[in-house]
Amino acid sequence: MVDHLAQLLDVVKVVPTVNQIEVHPYFQQREVQAAGAEHGILTQAWSPIGGITFYRESEHTSTLEDRTIVAIAEAHGKSPAQVMLRWHLQQGRSVIPKSTKPHRIAENFDVFGFDLTAGELASIDALDTRKRGGPEPDAITLESFGRQIPEA
Ligand SMILES: NC(=O)c1ccc[n+]([C@@H]2O[C@H](COP(=O)([O-])OP(=O)(O)OC[C@H]3O[C@@H](n4cnc5c(N)ncnc54)[C@H](OP(=O)(O)O)[C@@H]3O)[C@@H](O)[C@H]2O)c1
Repeated sequence: MVDHLAQLLDVVKVVPTVNQIEVHPYFQQREVQAAGAEHGILTQAWSPIGGITFYRESEHTSTLEDRTIVAIAEAHGKSPAQVMLRWHLQQGRSVIPKSTKPHRIAENFDVFGFDLTAGELASIDALDTRKRGGPEPDAITLESFGRQIPEA
């Protein structure tokens, strides 16, 4: 998070190259991305196609079935996953999608033959709910996790 980066940058001699954080259309963390970019730190998106959104208990909120994303995918003859990966890449992020299925791994690599328009990128930006899917970073303390880093 922004304050963690600030604390870190106050004490380190080597600026980190990459900050791996949760980023997908439903949770975008633009302020963390901007803070990293100010210091040349690349944002790497985990759960880049929203994997963490597939298992929510209440309503079904999978990014793969989002109407905006599906419509953009249909317009380009691509899959929703490919559209999300393209959105990340065109905005300069690194992505680490995970699949256990060879045909999906191939699909997730095949994202370099089309471009989303500025309007399409903006309509995916507008899907941000600002609701985190993963654990709250501020709740990860020495007390709660109990793993001391001697060098820290
Ligand atoms: N640093 C951290 O705290 C952190 C936290 C979470 C995750 N990660 C890393 O981030 C990587 C990705 O995160 P993630 O696995 O949570 O989410 P993800 O890559 O956004 O989504 C993975 C899910 O999407 C499915 N999938 C993959 N490609 C697809 C496609 N083309 N079409 C339809 N479904 C597709 C996968 O199912 P199938 O396998 O059945 O294809 C799986 O259910 C993981 O490798 C993990 O190591 C890091």
